[in-house]
Order: sequence, then C-alpha cells, then structure tokens
Amino acid sequence: MIEFEQVFKRYETTGAQVFNGCSALIEKGEFVLLTGESGAGKTTFIRLILKETEPDGGRIRVMGQDLSTILPKQIPRYRRRLGVVFQEFYLIPDRTVYENVELARQIAGGSRKSSRTVIASLFSLLGIADLHRKYPRELSGGEKQKVCLARALVNYPSILLADEPTGNLSPAESEELMRLFALVHRQGITVVVATHDKRSAEGLACREMRLRGGVQDGQDAGTMSDGQ
Ligand SMILES: Nc1ncnc2c1ncn2[C@@H]1O[C@H](COP(=O)(O)OP(=O)(O)OP(=O)(O)O)[C@@H](O)[C@H]1O
Ligand SMILES: [Mg+2]
Repeated sequence: MIEFEQVFKRYETTGAQVFNGCSALIEKGEFVLLTGESGAGKTTFIRLILKETEPDGGRIRVMGQDLSTILPKQIPRYRRRLGVVFQEFYLIPDRTVYENVELARQIAGGSRKSSRTVIASLFSLLGIADLHRKYPRELSGGEKQKVCLARALVNYPSILLADEPTGNLSPAESEELMRLFALVHRQGITVVVATHDKRSAEGLACREMRLRGGVQDGQDAGTMSDGQ
C-alpha cells in the first residue's frame, strides 16, 4: 500500500539529511505506529506520502502508483484518496461540526443528499452523533479530534494518515482516539499514525515502525526497524 524504496530526502534550507536510503513497506490493511525521536523524520515521511514535498532519490509507491508519475494537476485528486489528521484541528470556527465534515465531502464533489447518509453513519461509528449541531469552540480537544477524524474519513480514503494526533489531548482522550484509529483499521482502512505517544496505543493490534533519524550525525539516517 505504501512502499519506500531507497528514499533520500534532504531539506535544502536546513541541510537536514532526513532519509538516507530509507526503505519501508506498509501493507494494505495494516495499522502502523510510526515512531522515532523528534527529528527522526515522521512528519517528513507523511509529507512525502502526501506529495507535499519531494524525495531527492528513490521511489515512493502509494496505492500502486509511483508518486513521481503524478502530475501537479493530479495531486488534489490523489490526496482525496488519503485521509489526514493533524495535531492541530483546523476546524472552521463559524461552521458546525456537521458543516465542517460536509464541506470536506462537497470539495470532493459529493452531493448534499449522499453526504447526509455517509456523515450520519460515520458520526455514529465514532460516537459523535450528538455533537453535530455544535460549533468547534463548544467541544473538548478529544471531541474536536474525533470530528477531524470524521472529516478525514468522509470521502472513504484507502489510507488514513495521522501526524501526532494526540499532541493536544489529555491521556484519557488520547487513549480513546487511538481506540478509534483501531476501529477505523478494523473497517479495512490502512492506518498510519506518527506519534511520540506509544502509551496510548498500548494493547492495540498495531505494528510499530521506528524511524531512526540521524540528522545530527547523519550516520544512520532513515533506516528502519520493526516491532521494538
Ligand atoms: N520544511 C522543512 N524545512 C527544512 N527542514 C525541515 C523541514 N521540515 C523538517 N525539517 C528538518 O528535518 C528533520 C526531520 O523533521 P521531521 O519534522 O520530519 O521530524 P519528526 O520525526 O516529525 O519530528 P517531531 O517528533 O519533532 O515531530 C528535522 O531535522 C527538521 O528540522
Ligand atoms: Mg513531526
């Protein structure tokens, strides 16, 4: 589903060599926790998948497609097949919960009518049906992040990516959110969560993929190991 083959990535501005021949494979239907110290390249890994930044070498395949063959005008359509959750919520303050999620579907071309059914079942799956008329300011952090999760799922992505999704949540909210990621995974979606917060995922059926950045010494930048 996601394949990195000898990927090199360096940011010109900082000179940070984030990946130095990074190879990684995430299979369809996996639930992966992407871990590693600050600066190891977790966010960069996700940005490469989203095609928000380009590798300097190697090949990245996502959903069977070599990302280097996607033209700039095709990027929005490609990204719509990926759901993304960030640490910050980015909810629109003057729209209700329902409207925030509906907007993501409208942008992707979904009709009002079909949205209603999809959003209703999604809200019930995630346990947020009672929030739909509320505004973001009326929600707790945990509730906001559940709405962000609904927004990420509303166009039926094949892959859900999350970058430090529990960064602004309490421990209890974090555990609950991780349980929802596991629930989403059980629906057949490939889930990749970049996080410092392994504790919240304890007991869940996920595989840890640890990035070892070496941006300071550049020695073993971008090698990976599984399951530790
Ligand atoms: N847009 C950018 N321009 C220049 N350098 C960057 C950029 N983004 C990240 N870097 C550098 O690349 C390295 C990897 O950063 P990245 O954000 O991918 O790590 P991370 O594992 O997500 O870290 P954290 O756990 O702190 O979120 C760091 O040294 C960082 O300073
Ligand atoms: Mg990061």
